[in-house]
Amino acid sequence: MTLRISPSLLSADFSRLADEIAEVEAAGADLLHLDLMDGHFVPNLTFGPPVVTALARVATVPLDAHLMVTDPDPLIPELAAAGVQRTAVHVETCRHLHRTLTSIRKSGMEAGVAVNPATSLALLDEVFSDIDFVMVMSVNPGFGGQTFIESSLAKIRRLRRLLGDRNVDISVDGGVDSQTAGPLAAAGATTLIAGSAIFGFPDRARALASLREAAQRGNDL
Ligand code: DX5
Ligand code: ZN
Repeated sequence: MTLRISPSLLSADFSRLADEIAEVEAAGADLLHLDLMDGHFVPNLTFGPPVVTALARVATVPLDAHLMVTDPDPLIPELAAAGVQRTAVHVETCRHLHRTLTSIRKSGMEAGVAVNPATSLALLDEVFSDIDFVMVMSVNPGFGGQTFIESSLAKIRRLRRLLGDRNVDISVDGGVDSQTAGPLAAAGATTLIAGSAIFGFPDRARALASLREAAQRGNDL
């Protein structure tokens, strides 16, 4: 699987989102990561489907939605209608995970499950054939710029083994930078989601390129 980079708009300048998107697209972003937070599942509030719909009109790369909300189900049709390519729900929020994943796929999007740092991969055992990606949280969700939790590396290695030869992407979200990208790629991550390591630098092209190089070095190990 080739390694992809998904810049997280959470660390972008919210007063000029269209320009920020254009910059990371020109820098070679593979996806665009959108963090939907409800101030309830996580202690922060961002944006919802109307903003996603507006962003979809200007974005040219696929949109990668990460739902940090207590009740993700009602958002699914709206995100699909906006043209979102893939959507991750948190396993901690889904009482009927299989139903939610099925509805994401039926609506035409790729389905993913996000797992918090303290959440066991065992919760995914019964849904491996219902998902297109797993989003391993390497920080507690809610904010950008947090410190990478080191035990995420072993978790990703375990997940890679559990997935066997299934065509399931492993995305990692939180604290991804040019220090952690190499070890993450070596552990088996195939999509790197990065906010502050890209939007925190004035030269986004350079920031993205250095992440990609670091990841490539890890992949070559
Ligand atoms: C955190 C979000 C992340 C966030 C990552 O809850 O899900 O996508 O933007 O930010 P960094 O890359 O700065 O850790
Ligand atoms: Zn995220």
